[in-house]
Amino acid sequence: MMVTELKSVLIVFASRFGSTDEIAHEIADELERHKILTKVHNLRDGVKTPSLEDFDGIIVGSGIKMGRWTKESYKFLKENQNKLNSKVLGLFVSSGEAANPKTYTEARRKYLERMMGKTGVKADITEAFGGVFDFSSDSTYSFLEKKIIQRLAKSVEGGIVIDDYKMNDFRDWELIRKWAKEFSNLLNT
Ligand SMILES: Cc1cc2nc3c(=O)[nH]c(=O)nc-3n(C[C@H](O)[C@H](O)[C@H](O)COP(=O)(O)O)c2cc1C
Repeated sequence: MMVTELKSVLIVFASRFGSTDEIAHEIADELERHKILTKVHNLRDGVKTPSLEDFDGIIVGSGIKMGRWTKESYKFLKENQNKLNSKVLGLFVSSGEAANPKTYTEARRKYLERMMGKTGVKADITEAFGGVFDFSSDSTYSFLEKKIIQRLAKSVEGGIVIDDYKMNDFRDWELIRKWAKEFSNLLNT
């Protein structure tokens, strides 16, 4: 009987408000559906990062706030540049600007291409997923953060229509699963 070796992927992320965390887990679920062994690692958990050598592919993600990646994900890219470039590598962000078709391309440029230039990391596949604007009663945003989001939503070209009393979730789960499937295809070629 022929035994095919299963591929393994480490998904490393940091999230300020939780949306990137959920995206990371959805990517992991989709990869598992394609028979890839996955491990999800939250850089803010304070747990030691698994050894990158143990994985065939790595995916690194971050939420965006005030134009910035989380410092943990940024540091991870900078410190592991060479190891990451020797793997099948995916990068993603969860960003408000990516939710608007008019600012999506610019979000990709600012938050993915520029980040690769800054860190020397060369990803095989990247994506800017839409994010979440949480104005529900469970929201953890401060008053100031709510104001920043309302300003951001108005300032992006064409505007992003948000409900000031609800959870506004612009994540496209179909796109997220499709991206994960593409990553699995890259890993298996
Ligand atoms: C205070 C604040 C500032 C934000 N600034 C930006 C921004 O500059 N650009 C952007 O694309 N999205 C911005 N967003 C939207 C976030 O990227 C979006 O909420 C994302 O889902 C956050 O990911 P996280 O929940 O993993 O932290 C901001 C959100 C908040 C709460």
